[in-house]
Amino acid sequence: MHELAETAKALVAQGKGILAADESDGTIKKRFDSIGVDSTEDTRRAYRELLFSTEGAEEYISGVILFDETLRQSASDGTPFPKLLESKGVIPGIKVDKGAKPLALSDGETITEGLDGLRERFAEYRELGARFAKWRATYSIAPDKPSEYCAWTNAHALARYAALSQEAGLVPIVEPEVLQDGTHTLEQSAKATGRVLQAVYTELHDQRIHLPGTLLKPNMVLSGYDASHRAGIDEVAEATLEVLYRHVPAAVPGIVFLSGGQTDEDSTAHLNAMNERGPHPWELSFSYGRALQAPALKAWRGDEANVAAGQEAYAHRAKMNGLARSGSYSPDMEQKVAA
Ligand code: 13P
Repeated sequence: MHELAETAKALVAQGKGILAADESDGTIKKRFDSIGVDSTEDTRRAYRELLFSTEGAEEYISGVILFDETLRQSASDGTPFPKLLESKGVIPGIKVDKGAKPLALSDGETITEGLDGLRERFAEYRELGARFAKWRATYSIAPDKPSEYCAWTNAHALARYAALSQEAGLVPIVEPEVLQDGTHTLEQSAKATGRVLQAVYTELHDQRIHLPGTLLKPNMVLSGYDASHRAGIDEVAEATLEVLYRHVPAAVPGIVFLSGGQTDEDSTAHLNAMNERGPHPWELSFSYGRALQAPALKAWRGDEANVAAGQEAYAHRAKMNGLARSGSYSPDMEQKVAA
């Protein structure tokens, strides 16, 4: 349990956060489609190498979440990716869930699968170098959603995953994502997020999870992406903090937000605004996928000649988010680099 707490603390070390590069085959295909690149084992490998070999990113990146295929791949010089990351002091992690599937007897809600055989998969992942893991549950917002049924079945599965993860010596990142699509208000998002977190911490407690050896990966509380009035940076920061203060125990060492379809700069500004209001009982950090990678993907476009430009774009976002860890980010830092 001591090792778990140490790993969790290292993942939320001052000024650093996590890169989520654990897109499943289906998701990375979507990302590659957007830049007109075929998704093959080798293009996926080349793209991940671009990210992982970016010089200096380790100043701001404490850990990287990998997909099963990537954990087994190597850089072009033959160094396995987990070894490459470790050599830079970056901790390798692994996505272990098998995706959100329709929840039986519900009206369009989902349950995340992947518990069968998970103990054996954890043993292999640890052998391959992973020191932390991720499991994502998803929930929608509607007048009757998330239902109690969806909140509790997913909370139960998240806790079962977390227990197996801790048993194997990997820090579980617990990710209940309340999706922010739609026209809901900030208040509706706060209510749904609070409900889901309360169920998650009840199950984690009942299933004996050692909270200092965990991290939480939640959504931020936002107005729906299609809402007619959308809350600004300060409102989002305050609404998100209020929900977290009510529902996340202080024994949790860190909260690492997902970006979930916000723009890169909004994701950074929101995190910055929350940290400006610190100190808080937990470290407030990031575990972004799209918000760290989008500009790098666009700059790369699958062309070897653009690797340096892709790395520069990724290093810039990593640095901006690193600064947001201490509330030292400001939007004019974006223009300076772009100029
Ligand atoms: P986004 O930051 O793109 O939401 O991805 C984070 C993640 O890992 C979702 O599971």
